[in-house]
Amino acid sequence: MEIGSVTAGPGVPVCAARLAAHVSEYESDIERILITEAEIQARLAELGAQITEDYAGRDPLLVGVLKGAFMLMADLSRHIHLPLEFDFMAVSSYGSATRTSGVVRILKDLDHEIQGRDVLLVEDIIDSGLTLNYLLKNLRSRKPGTLEVCALLHKTEMQRVPLDIRYTGFEIPPEFVIGYGLDYAERFRNLPYVATLKREAYAAG
Ligand code: IMP
Ligand code: MG
Repeated sequence: MEIGSVTAGPGVPVCAARLAAHVSEYESDIERILITEAEIQARLAELGAQITEDYAGRDPLLVGVLKGAFMLMADLSRHIHLPLEFDFMAVSSYGSATRTSGVVRILKDLDHEIQGRDVLLVEDIIDSGLTLNYLLKNLRSRKPGTLEVCALLHKTEMQRVPLDIRYTGFEIPPEFVIGYGLDYAERFRNLPYVATLKREAYAAG
């Protein structure tokens, strides 16, 4: 495949080549693509433009919540035309593979002080909202100048605590989804789209 070209070989679109190379072992587990790669990228361009406008003249600190937000951080930040700084937290929620309990353990804390900073927390998905609620309380106690949230996905019907989400990519139905950073049992994070899994995939996991 030529770097920068639009084809991966004679008549093979880049997208198809990528799926063949990275995803073939997963494809049989996918039930339905909910949000395509093109839809995600188009929405991130819009969100990036909005964030660039809202934070004009400031130098925000993007805080990604690992592991799910790694892909969103990389793609979204390329649409934010500001002097950005990055930090990451890794958290693990106690609960089953597909449900959170709201009890969050910090596995990796921020490297930087955030007092007085314009912090934008970047999350993959808000389900019950319990993880985010915990994180916001934790970060607020460190006295950031501002603290806002950008989440790629929001299962509005599932939310159990009131939250103020400044930037949302997509509102989705209350189904378990994978891809674009999101996992089931640590798999499927590298898919460039958001999809649901077949029942058999859960049974196998
Ligand atoms: P919450 O605390 O219920 O809002 O859950 C948030 C966390 O649970 C996310 O950061 C994800 O790691 C995980 N999660 C929630 N829903 C899904 C899903 O549909 N697919 C994959 N992970 C999910
Ligand atoms: Mg997870």
